[in-house]
Amino acid sequence: MINKVGTVIDDLGGRADGWVPPPTGRYFTVRLVEQNVIDLRSDTVTRPSAEMRESAAEAPVGDDVYRDDPTVNELESRAAALAGTEAAVFVPTGTMGNQAAIRTHTERGQELLCDEQAHVYKWELGGIPQLSSVQPRIVDAGDRAVPTPAQIREGYVAEDLHRPGTGLVTLENTHNSRGGVAVPKEHVDAAADAAHDLGVPVHLDGARLPNACVALDTDPAEMLDRVDTAMFCLSKGLGAPVGSVVVGPEEFVAGARRVRKLFGGGMRQAGIVAAPALDALENVDRLVEDHANAERLAADLDDIAGLAAPNPDTNLVMVHTDGLGVTGETFADACGERDVAFSAFDDHTCRLCTHLDVDERDIDEAVDRIAAVAEELR
Ligand SMILES: Cc1ncc(COP(=O)(O)O)c(C=O)c1O
Repeated sequence: MINKVGTVIDDLGGRADGWVPPPTGRYFTVRLVEQNVIDLRSDTVTRPSAEMRESAAEAPVGDDVYRDDPTVNELESRAAALAGTEAAVFVPTGTMGNQAAIRTHTERGQELLCDEQAHVYKWELGGIPQLSSVQPRIVDAGDRAVPTPAQIREGYVAEDLHRPGTGLVTLENTHNSRGGVAVPKEHVDAAADAAHDLGVPVHLDGARLPNACVALDTDPAEMLDRVDTAMFCLSKGLGAPVGSVVVGPEEFVAGARRVRKLFGGGMRQAGIVAAPALDALENVDRLVEDHANAERLAADLDDIAGLAAPNPDTNLVMVHTDGLGVTGETFADACGERDVAFSAFDDHTCRLCTHLDVDERDIDEAVDRIAAVAEELR
């Protein structure tokens, strides 16, 4: 089925009566084939390069549940080396990586302390209680994006006859819902030290860790040297079609590997997807281009009357629509009609994301189209 912008809709997205979901907002089932649409919904919308497809076709493979897949083994070694940890395990998604890490770190009934805007809490389908029987205790980390040492000490629960005990603190870097904030190492360290002083381990959700490291001019091993474990994605800014890794000490990763199996993530000839993920590691340095495009996009959108777009740290641009008097959803839908796709995030906020498949020209074109929409709505 093809909608009016020449977009092929998959079987789940189209309805028999011909109704077609708009290419924005909550409807993520649209497959954009017609390149006239500038797709800024996420950095996960990139298509694998010709090299990635070739690597997938040629990858030596084996049964990874038996640890027989040389390509997965290579990816796990490379990921561990990059993160400065003893080991790594390849997982299909960031969500599975985070939730497997949480399950491995905690015991049923414990508490997990995190920011109220954390992806693990807000966007993973309640996986913390559903998959680990753990209760989240949330704090408002504000612009800092990770809890302060004082918040960790105040939120900590010591185990006794009545209270379950805090089993884990999670941090996020970059912080998605807070606008792609690149959290400085001092703040990560301060949170990790405060948790460790209380005997609590720390997991870092680094779905976009490479973006944070590039923005802060540091490397992952340094950023992670005081946390216990982390997850990072190959399938976001780095452009792999599939895959994330959980990194940490050997014994922890062995545990996470068992949990991955429990969650249905024990993959067989996974070298097919690990090979493009290895190629994706070559894309770290070019993230500066995405960050520059995001900065340009934010500056230009901020100049449009009725819109406010703070300067981003990385590749996520938050745009506030209060000045136009419309909700984020109305604005995103109207821009979708003009073939610029992005998501409404909150009542009056939209998120636009730069990535490997958009360049400066696309950004300028997107700004022109968005400016036209804003003018119509004013
Ligand atoms: C911060 C953060 N963590 C975890 C995830 C989950 O990754 P996935 O979509 O691969 O499950 C995302 C996805 O956008 C994210 O932004």
